[in-house]
Amino acid sequence: MKGIEHDGKRILVVNLDGTIYAWDGTCTHEEYDLSMCALHLSQFNLITGEAVNPPAERPLGKHQVKVANGDIFVEVA
Ligand code: FES
Repeated sequence: MKGIEHDGKRILVVNLDGTIYAWDGTCTHEEYDLSMCALHLSQFNLITGEAVNPPAERPLGKHQVKVANGDIFVEVA
């Protein structure tokens, strides 16, 4: 996982067994950076974005990813 920031928006880029995903990088419970968050220990399914344990309840927003020639492009919604 790698947290990045674009135009003030946090994005969490994840390589899960070779598949790249990009999610909103801010926890849906409170405004905290997921790439380093240890506030209340919610966890998220990194394939669906769903919150799998409280206190977070809302899923993460998903961003489209394209991989070309080893570069990763993320379309920030
Ligand atoms: S800020 Fe992530 S669970 Fe509270």
